[in-house]
Amino acid sequence: MTQRFSFELTATDGRARTGVISTPRGEIRTPAFMPVGTAGTVKAMLPENVRATGADILLGNTYHLMLRPTAERVARLGGLHRFMNWDRPILTDSGGFQVMSLADLRKLTEEGVTFRSHIDGSKHHLSPERSMEIQRLLGSDIVMAFDECPALPATEEAVAKSMRLSMRWARRSREAFGDRPGHALFGIMQGGVTRDLREESAAALREIGFEGYAIGGLAVGEGQEAMFGVLDYAPGFLPEDRPRYLMGVGKPDDIVGAVERGVDMMDCVLPSRSGRTGQAWTRRGQVNIKNARHMDDPRPLDEACSCPACRSYSRAYLHHVFRAQEIIASMLLTWHNLHYYQELMQGLRAAIAAGRLGEFVAAFHAARAEGDI
Ligand code: GUN
Ligand code: ZN
Repeated sequence: MTQRFSFELTATDGRARTGVISTPRGEIRTPAFMPVGTAGTVKAMLPENVRATGADILLGNTYHLMLRPTAERVARLGGLHRFMNWDRPILTDSGGFQVMSLADLRKLTEEGVTFRSHIDGSKHHLSPERSMEIQRLLGSDIVMAFDECPALPATEEAVAKSMRLSMRWARRSREAFGDRPGHALFGIMQGGVTRDLREESAAALREIGFEGYAIGGLAVGEGQEAMFGVLDYAPGFLPEDRPRYLMGVGKPDDIVGAVERGVDMMDCVLPSRSGRTGQAWTRRGQVNIKNARHMDDPRPLDEACSCPACRSYSRAYLHHVFRAQEIIASMLLTWHNLHYYQELMQGLRAAIAAGRLGEFVAAFHAARAEGDI
C-alpha cells in the first residue's frame, strides 16, 4: 500500500472540473456520482452489478452500521469492504446528519450527541472522536468529519451557531483521525444560504486542512434556485487542488448544475430509492412505470440505454412486475437508474475534457424538454 490519497485535475471548462482521485483501492473519476449503500448494500443490487454501471466508489453510513451490525462486529469480520464484497473505495458519512433526521430523543451538547436508535430504542452516543473510531473500524477510505446540519427552517443566528459548533467538531475530527496514509478525511462546510457564514466556514476548514472538502447543509428543502445560489460562490471558497463533494445531491438536473459550478463528487439515494418506488430516470426525464399507459407498451424504457432493464425487457414487463410487487422490479429499475446516472457522469467528464460542457448541457436540457416517448 504505497499509493497515497491524491487528486489530480486533468481539465476544466468554465468552473467545471474533471480529474482523478487515486486511492490504494482504486481510482475515482471525477465528477463522480456515489451510489448509496447505507447499511452495507446498495439495495436490490449485487456489488459487481453496481460496479458494472460504472460506479468507482460507494457511500456507507456510520449511523446505520453502528446500530446494526455495529462497527466492532464489521471490524472483526474484516472490515466493510470484505463484509459487503466491494473492494473499491468507500466513503462513509459521519453520522451527525442521520442522527438529526432519523434518531429519537436527541440531546446535543458541545461534546457530541446522545440519541435513541430508530430501530430498537437503544441509547447511543456520537462525538467527533467516536465517529472517527467507527469510520476507522469500518475501514472507510474517505472519512467525513463529524458535523451538525441544522433542520430547516432555522434562523441565521441558529445556522451560525450550529456552523461554529461543526467547525470545532471538524478540528476535533482532524485530531482524532490522526495520520492514516492512504485514507482521507474530508471537512464539511456549513452555513446555510448565507454567504458570509459559508465563507467563515470554509476559512475555518482551510485553516485546519483536509484532503477534501464537502459542501453540506444543502438539498435540505431550500429548493434548487437557492442551492444553485450558494453553489455560485461556495466552491470558490475551497482550495482548487482538493476534491469538492456536494452531499446528498441530487436529481439529474441538480447534478448537472452542480458540476457546472465546480463540484467534483456527489451522492444521493434518489436513483436507488426511486427505483424501488417505480420511478425511472431517463434522458427524457422521469418515468413512472406504475402508470397504466405502459401496460401494453412493448418498447424499452429507453431504446438508447444499454442496461439490462432496457436491453431485455419491455415497459409492459417492468409495469407488470412492479404492479405484482416482484423483487425483479426493484432490481431492474435500480439498475437502470444507476446506469443512467453513471452514463450522465461519464458524459459530463468527457464533455469537460473536450471543452464542450456548454453543448452537452444544452443537449441534456433539450432532451428533457421533449418529454418521455
Ligand atoms: N448529507 C447531506 N447533507 C449533509 C450534511 O450537511 N452533513 C453530513 N454529514 N451529511 C450530509
Ligand atoms: Zn436502462
